[in-house]
Amino acid sequence: MPGSSIKSGGENMKDGIIGDLIYIRKNNMLIVNHAHVARDLLDKHARIYSDRPMTNTMKLCGFDGILSLQKTGTGTSLIAELALESKGNTVEIEKIKAMGTISFLAGADTTMSSISSFLLTMTQHPDIQSKAQAEIARVIGRDRLPTFEDQQSLPYVESIYCKIMRMHPPLPLSVFHISIEDDFYRGYHIPKGCAVVLNIWAINRDPDVYSEPDKFMPECFLDSPTGPFKKINDIYAYGFGRRICAGRYMADNTVWLAIASVLATLNLHKAKDGEGNEVNIPGEYTKHFLRHPKPYQSSITPCDLQARELILATAMA
Ligand code: HEM
Repeated sequence: MPGSSIKSGGENMKDGIIGDLIYIRKNNMLIVNHAHVARDLLDKHARIYSDRPMTNTMKLCGFDGILSLQKTGTGTSLIAELALESKGNTVEIEKIKAMGTISFLAGADTTMSSISSFLLTMTQHPDIQSKAQAEIARVIGRDRLPTFEDQQSLPYVESIYCKIMRMHPPLPLSVFHISIEDDFYRGYHIPKGCAVVLNIWAINRDPDVYSEPDKFMPECFLDSPTGPFKKINDIYAYGFGRRICAGRYMADNTVWLAIASVLATLNLHKAKDGEGNEVNIPGEYTKHFLRHPKPYQSSITPCDLQARELILATAMA
């Protein structure tokens, strides 16, 4: 590795905490808790950490259905369009199906998790919601929805997006990277086949980097020297290295647009019980590989009549 003091044939890693790394020898598993280590290993040695524990793709459910929708003109589908263009070439069709399946599996729940975290957080923080609504009203007015052209003019909305992605990564432990050959890092030998676990949860709460990591304060992005607008690879929720999220640009657009559109039109409140008292929101999350807010009660209403009209007009368009 150029520019480093790695000794080839370095010391074998033993169980436990080694500087910034946690190694579990029994499972040949390395847990990464800091962004600089993730960059050193997965970005700088991207080729080595490029494998995955499982590579089998599953069958795309409903493929025949979407094909017939496209053929009869009753619906549209990129997958069906590409499959029809490939004129019966079965190898190509299998690749198109795999692309559709992976995109669906990797993209649907992750995107929904981020949007759900945003909805939950706004319900818990009406003051932050109001500030973002005021920014949108000031910058673009009340008679249209925000578009991507507005993004750079809405720093507070951007800060909310960044904070959601930092505090609530949908995949808190990312997806394992497997090393395809031996590696040496800071004098230690990392064996081939090592499963590198990116602890995005810990990386995003690194106390050496973030002063109050568990507090939802979008202002910390506004006040930071670099500001709220990030390069997409600096949003760690999308992972690192060669296997970084392939759909991150689409996810970035989808989550941002959902956040901006909701803020432009809806008020998210706590629900009220029979006596008119606000129902508490525990703010709990599932503890799965892919993390979602647990169900809670809330009240969602259009900001006013104009917002209601805008929602209806958009739905009809
Ligand atoms: C907020 C939404 C999303 C989040 C937080 C997210 C996060 C991630 C993460 C953490 C990984 C593993 C990266 C790594 O190993 O370093 C990943 C992989 C992947 N994501 Fe996403 N993702 C999102 C949306 C999407 C969307 C919308 C698509 C596709 C349409 C997508 C497609 C993929 C694919 C294909 C991979 C596997 C890449 C590979 O193995 O080379 N993701 N995603």
